Amino acid sequence: MASTKDDIATGVLQALDKADSILTNEVFPEAKTLDIKAALDRLGGRSMITYETLERDEYLLETEAEQIAANGSHEARVFEALRQAVEGLTVADLEKAVGDKQVTKLGQGKAFREKWIAKTSDGKFKAVAETITDTTRQQLLDIQKSRTYPDAKVIAELRKRKLIRLQKVVNFRVVKGAKFALEITKEETDLTVEMLASGAWKTATFKPYNFNALGADQNAGALHPLNKVRQEFRQIFFEMGFEEMPTDKFVESGFWNFDTLFVPQQHPARDLQDTFYISDPVKADPPRATDANDTKDYKQYWDNVRQVHETGKFDSIGYRYPWSPDESLKLVLRTHTTAISSAMLHRLAAKKGPDGRPPPARYFSIDRVFRNESVDATHLAEFHQVEGVIADYGLTLGGLMEFMKIFFDKMGLEDLMFKPAYNPYTEPSMEIFSFHKGLNKLVEIGNSGMFRPEMLESMGLPRDMRVYGWGLSLERPTMIKYGISNIRELLGHKVDLNFIKKNPAVRLDKN
Ligand code: PHE
Repeated sequence: MASTKDDIATGVLQALDKADSILTNEVFPEAKTLDIKAALDRLGGRSMITYETLERDEYLLETEAEQIAANGSHEARVFEALRQAVEGLTVADLEKAVGDKQVTKLGQGKAFREKWIAKTSDGKFKAVAETITDTTRQQLLDIQKSRTYPDAKVIAELRKRKLIRLQKVVNFRVVKGAKFALEITKEETDLTVEMLASGAWKTATFKPYNFNALGADQNAGALHPLNKVRQEFRQIFFEMGFEEMPTDKFVESGFWNFDTLFVPQQHPARDLQDTFYISDPVKADPPRATDANDTKDYKQYWDNVRQVHETGKFDSIGYRYPWSPDESLKLVLRTHTTAISSAMLHRLAAKKGPDGRPPPARYFSIDRVFRNESVDATHLAEFHQVEGVIADYGLTLGGLMEFMKIFFDKMGLEDLMFKPAYNPYTEPSMEIFSFHKGLNKLVEIGNSGMFRPEMLESMGLPRDMRVYGWGLSLERPTMIKYGISNIRELLGHKVDLNFIKKNPAVRLDKN
């Protein structure tokens, strides 16, 4: 009798050698379905056979039903006992004649209802029917033989009476495959030194790769979607010759975050409602060089910034208000990464290219910024900003628009529209919109402009050096990409770790 998988596999081949198609239940009535399936898969993997799975419902008799099938139903047994006692029987005698108290009790009731028996005037039982048909027994005998019954109602009734139970039966119909043979050749899984040395590799059969096999599920960490999209953006910037800015500090002074960017100290963005201020330490040091290579005159820069706000300088009339050093030295959680662009441009001013002037530069950064916003489905008090800066001589607004088209095109965002806007640090400024096919409307994707001379000349950058700047949030394209409508599902304590783990790698639909 085939028992192991090997035996089953050989058995299948032998049976198939004699017949065009076999049913495994007939060939291996005793074998376990799982063992059969394993053997068939093994043969199937070598194209020696093909098979289809057949599933069928079968009904088996419970112990009580088996007794009924053998001896008749309770009621039939009661009737039979009484039929033989012409005078009728007392309950005690009936029990004795049937030979089972329980069977007598149940059978008696049913036999009464069927009008097979009746009570005599002296309180005995007697048979009244001429003949009876023991339907239940007949049905059970049928089921015992064929494991099924043509009338579904009967099956339901017998199951309700707990006389039969359902069993799902899996059967396989097997036919010969393209490489059918009686012998299962040994398949090598590895090419070994020995095989090479002996030449055995020439005749060996190699097990084909199973490219459908799934790797084991690793319970490993996963990159956050924002991280993945960030990586895509970084790649675009690097492709276009940009250098990454160091964004490794969340706290900035008002000086770098606002004043160097020509944001007046009364500007609403500097209000407590919009910006998080740090109370400890109470204030920043005045700007100074932070490494030995930095030879810039920070005192001069500080004075330039103060003057350009207070009285005007570099042909600008300024804002004309009393500029407060204390306000400038307040510490803030940076509200944009433009604070870093500003520091980088200030350093650029000290660099000397081949002609002795600051060389053209392209900088980018992608990091976290903080704003005192009320949190809702699309706003958090912190988000990530993607920022780019291009410094060169003779740049024009047309060049910025063209560059934006190329840049956003790389992210699959087409049909850009530009809308005049206002930033204290850029003139002109433009909001950038793109037509979103899914939403069927224009969506704002970024903010941009050409940095003001008040900002650039205070740093000591040459007057004919122009600087483009633009910024966008990392969250918006990520939400669009992953189909997230609530930003709180993406960032913060409500994020579902499974969602983070299950998300595939992102690929922007680059053109
Ligand atoms: N800092 C701007 C913002 O927060 C983005 C920007 C950067 C705009 C540089 C113009 C130039 O949206």
